[in-house]
Amino acid sequence: MLEQILRLRKELNEHNYRYYVLNDPLISDYDFDRKMRELQELEAAYPQYDDPNSPSHRVGSDLTGEFATVAHRYPMLSLSNTYSPDEMHEFCDRVAREVGETEYVCELKFDGTAISVTYENGRLVRAVTRGDGTAGDDVTANVRTIRSIPLELRGDDYPSFFEIRGEILMPHASFDRLNAEREEAGEAPFANPRNAAAGTLKQQSSAVVARRGLDNFMYYLVGDDLPYASHWESLQKAKEWGFKISDRMELCRSTECIDDYIRRVDRLRETLPYDTDGVVIKVNEYALQRKLGYTAKSPRWAVAYKFKAEQALTRLNTVDFQVGRTGAVTPVANLDPVQLAGTTVKRASLHNAEQIALLDIRLHDMVYVEKGGEIIPKIVGVELSRRPADSTPFEYITHCPECGTLLVRYEGEAKHYCPNQSHCPPQIVGRIIHFIARRAMDIEGLGEETVALLYEQGLIRNIADLYDLTAGELAPLPRLGEKSAENIVTSIRRSAEVPFPRVLFALGIRFVGETTAKNLAARFGSLDAIAAATREQLLEADEVGEKIADSVIQYLSDEDNLKIIARLRKAGVQFSGGKREGLSDSLGGRTFVISGTFAAHSRDQLKELIELHGGKNLAAVSSNTDFLLAGANMGPAKLAKAQKLGVEIIDEERFLAMIGEGDGAGAASSPEKENNPVQGSLF
Ligand code: IVH
Repeated sequence: MLEQILRLRKELNEHNYRYYVLNDPLISDYDFDRKMRELQELEAAYPQYDDPNSPSHRVGSDLTGEFATVAHRYPMLSLSNTYSPDEMHEFCDRVAREVGETEYVCELKFDGTAISVTYENGRLVRAVTRGDGTAGDDVTANVRTIRSIPLELRGDDYPSFFEIRGEILMPHASFDRLNAEREEAGEAPFANPRNAAAGTLKQQSSAVVARRGLDNFMYYLVGDDLPYASHWESLQKAKEWGFKISDRMELCRSTECIDDYIRRVDRLRETLPYDTDGVVIKVNEYALQRKLGYTAKSPRWAVAYKFKAEQALTRLNTVDFQVGRTGAVTPVANLDPVQLAGTTVKRASLHNAEQIALLDIRLHDMVYVEKGGEIIPKIVGVELSRRPADSTPFEYITHCPECGTLLVRYEGEAKHYCPNQSHCPPQIVGRIIHFIARRAMDIEGLGEETVALLYEQGLIRNIADLYDLTAGELAPLPRLGEKSAENIVTSIRRSAEVPFPRVLFALGIRFVGETTAKNLAARFGSLDAIAAATREQLLEADEVGEKIADSVIQYLSDEDNLKIIARLRKAGVQFSGGKREGLSDSLGGRTFVISGTFAAHSRDQLKELIELHGGKNLAAVSSNTDFLLAGANMGPAKLAKAQKLGVEIIDEERFLAMIGEGDGAGAASSPEKENNPVQGSLF
């Protein structure tokens, strides 16, 4: 059986490589999924053959745990920046003075977040963020979900131990999708793909990471005694081993050649599916790199050339204030249309009152607009020399432009909010649109325009009113008619079957996105239990912090909201379900690190068991660890660290005894387990 599992893993790794690295798939998604399911089934049946590098783990797990801090074996330095061709030529002149005329590798400067990945005997063992350059976060579980990073290397001529460094990126397509989802869920969108990539890599749940579509490029091989003479050679080798190495790398022997490369990349980068913010120029030969050496912060054999963000100067005519579903007020500038980085810009974000005051932006000013990583262009400055003589400082609004309510500022937030959640029209319409969305109540046939119309005509004032709508009321509306009206009403009725976690998400409680809703439902099982929970108890749910807990409490103490919920209940909407039952509290908050492979359970199963019995999983051994659950082939470093810190080391049998399953009968065949629906659904 092991043979079949290994064969499937190899095959799936190959298909992943062809799809995510080469962009040249050999089989259909359907066939890929079929093979993956086959592997998953075999792995479930033979947990003793579990392997953290199995392609089945690319989907991630909800139990990544906290990140351990790991010291970098080789520091992660940054690059010194140059901003003009002259500055870049100075670098080349210095190199020439010190080591003579030489060859350079020119590369794209990827705008993501840096990662260092360690491979031992061709297998990915660790991935660490840059951190402060000397130590970073161990994000191995998250990085394993990125399909374009090989878990096992191809060929057999790689060094037995090396680190490879590169950039984790979020391609524009993934970024747009993620932000659309976040906005729909009332969560703040990421400002740019770089922040989104960094934020995603630090997600506690690797399952979330797996869904977000991260990608990577590797650009630097590090190790003692690498058997290659140059950077270029190393990266060509790395490409053969299955790493994603940019095809845009070029060799240059003159500053003219480098200038030309920079010019071409500056034109090209608009068309790339990910962000680049410059080029990197590296001395190719390792012998010369060693001669040039390092400063405290950066190598003396490489330099970055940063592109200037494109700017345009135009007139600010008026400012609109948009009120979103959550009541957040966003000032938007209306500009004289101007060409910028390939598109015509007419509107730009002004962010918030503070930003306007800081830049002293005034009506009728000539302002500089810039397209950074952000989707919406922003105003970055004012051309004071062209300010009209009669100009006066901009006065920010004090009242909601939609409903006239006095605006408020919440602690730690730069934006103003309209607190009139129940009666401010764009907030109500926005909430209804959020409620009916596909991933929420999935009510079909009602678009944004129809919802706005129903609101204007006084047919709906809140989400509960939807359930009182009749086909007779809907049919006369423009573009509807009897058939559509019937369908809408049926779809509304059917939404009563939507499971509670999605209902909780649909309510549109601030900061409660899909994942938070699921986590709250898993912990409490019903809206009543959530309402009865104390702030401290709410904080115990996965990924629920103070901001979320306070928002939930506030939502559930609002009379208007409670009335709406009571009406939804009457309409049959689900307000319970989705709870993940705990089995006992026998582990009572004690912390575990799992390492190695086990006879009767996979590591994910053991992690689940730890949680279900009230324990906590940690990703790495530290002074906070109570137990190291040690299996076969565990890493010697982990063992040594545990011994040094006096962490108790236990085996699988001892662990099962701790949770009352250690009867030696083999946990997988215990009859209670088979009858237990919770366990049945988990394993
Ligand atoms: S080489 C010792 N190459 O830029 C040299 N870095 O400011 C290590 N970056 O932290 C870096 N593209 O995150 C290198 N082609 C490239 C790069 C690159 C982007 C990032 C990297 C680094 C930062 C330095």
